Amino acid sequence: MRILGIESSCDETGIAIYDTEKGLVADQLYSQIELHAQYGGVVPELASRDHVRKIVPLIQQACVEADMKLNDLDAIAYTAGPGLVGALLVGACVGKSLAWALDLPAVEVHHMEGHLLAPLLEVNKPEFPFLCLLVSGGHTLLVDVQSLGNYKILGDTLDDAAGEAFDKTAKMLGLPYPGGRYIADLATQGDATRFKFPRPMMNRPGLQFSFSGLKTHTRVTWENHIEHCKNDTEIQQLKADIAAGFQLAVIDTLSKKCLRGIKQTGHQELVISGGVSANTSLRETLESMGKKHRFKSFFPSMKYCSDNGAMIAFAGAMRFQHKHIEQNTLIKAYPRWSLEALN
Ligand code: KG4
Ligand code: ZN
Repeated sequence: MRILGIESSCDETGIAIYDTEKGLVADQLYSQIELHAQYGGVVPELASRDHVRKIVPLIQQACVEADMKLNDLDAIAYTAGPGLVGALLVGACVGKSLAWALDLPAVEVHHMEGHLLAPLLEVNKPEFPFLCLLVSGGHTLLVDVQSLGNYKILGDTLDDAAGEAFDKTAKMLGLPYPGGRYIADLATQGDATRFKFPRPMMNRPGLQFSFSGLKTHTRVTWENHIEHCKNDTEIQQLKADIAAGFQLAVIDTLSKKCLRGIKQTGHQELVISGGVSANTSLRETLESMGKKHRFKSFFPSMKYCSDNGAMIAFAGAMRFQHKHIEQNTLIKAYPRWSLEALN
């Protein structure tokens, strides 16, 4: 079976074709980052318009890459939510219309389920059940994954998502958008022990997250020290030390909550996915923690950490095989949609 996957929930247009026998046979991605960088964040209306421009040419390129025609497809999967409503509607309209015109089933895919299943695209892949940490620009979730579509949210953020905290800290330090990877780069030149950053929610039981207090602490540290810098070298060092201390606080919090979740559920496998899972320090910390506490960590390859069509085609294929498909011709998008609603 060959499934076309369409991702357009935010600022990436991703189109892929997953063949249940051969694996990924096409993978096309267009990133709008340059378009939004000048505004310091995603501008929803511009995102929708750019998806409109790119989506059809990318579908054509995917067919060329896979050396097949639209008629060779068996189903169309698209991200139906959560995300920016205008951006989602572009993918939903194109996906549903294609399915209708080709007389194929349409599969609505939950964006976070796409991230959650992305590590299953790898050769060395996890097996159900497992614990999953989903860390992206909009979400920070710890999920008990029993099987496909059987998800229990054990922890969520009370305010900012981990990726959002990275992006806001980066913006404050004058780094480009989206700032996660720039903070990570800068942190390699910094001293993480120069400033003491709080570990939010660590002194309370449970698996909830909160990053807004850490964000405020970071801002106060920056404001208190920037005025004492005598030259550019000192400003650069201050930025690097803040980036390193901030990153360590986030990683410490995320990894310790993962360990709590592993102990609570008894799972032996931990899956980490979403944009922030590209952070090498986070990967290294969880891998060494796993060696010590006897659990195994699984990550998507770097190109599938951020938004992409491959994870949507793959999640669509799994849902299609399990007969989780839409039977009507209504075009729907769900800007807010809980993973648990899939159960
Ligand atoms: O999953 P994603 O591409 O989009 C959403 O669904 O939100 O995640 C994007 C987030 C951004 O906040 C970005 O700054 C963050 O992932 N990110 C990183 C790194 N690479 C991307 N955060 C920390 N370290 C990185 N290396
Ligand atoms: Zn995402």
